[in-house]
Amino acid sequence: MIRKHAAWIAIGALVVTMVIAVAAFGNTKPTGDAGTGIPPQDPGLVAAGEPLYQANCASCHGDDLRGTSTGPSHLSIVYEPNHHGDVAFILAARNGVQAHHWGFGNMEPVPGLSDEDLDAIVAYVREIQRIEGFEPYPP
Ligand code: HEC
Repeated sequence: MIRKHAAWIAIGALVVTMVIAVAAFGNTKPTGDAGTGIPPQDPGLVAAGEPLYQANCASCHGDDLRGTSTGPSHLSIVYEPNHHGDVAFILAARNGVQAHHWGFGNMEPVPGLSDEDLDAIVAYVREIQRIEGFEPYPP
């Protein structure tokens, strides 16, 4: 009788362990991926883009991309690739932006960046978006 109980307890423990394991595994995303669907970016471009972003964009958009008092967060869902494609970043730097989503005012053009620089900046932004995921809009 005691043995029978022990067997049932063992089976019960096994089932509980399996349920926990399946639940944990089901919640696991690939490391460093917030599940945005954005593919991993070229590591060389990302590495080149980081200092360019920090030097040219972070003063308003934040060194963590989450915005400042002078510019919006690039991790807002507004800036996911289907709403603001890569070309929107290139055009913003080249031509500036008329304020339309936020109350920060217009963005002036950012001079001195080559096409290669801007491609690298976009790769950096997409990589951080991929890792960090998006914030709701309005915040
Ligand atoms: C002096 C502050 C400032 C700097 C520097 C700056 N931005 Fe902006 N940016 C803004 C503001 C403010 C907006 C918000 C406009 C709005 O209300 O939609 C904006 C919006 C944008 C947008 C959205 C464009 C759209 O079509 O809605 C992109 C993309 C962007 N910035 C990219 C960049 C990049 C890339 C850099 C660096 C090369 C940069 N910004 C540097 C202030 C800045």
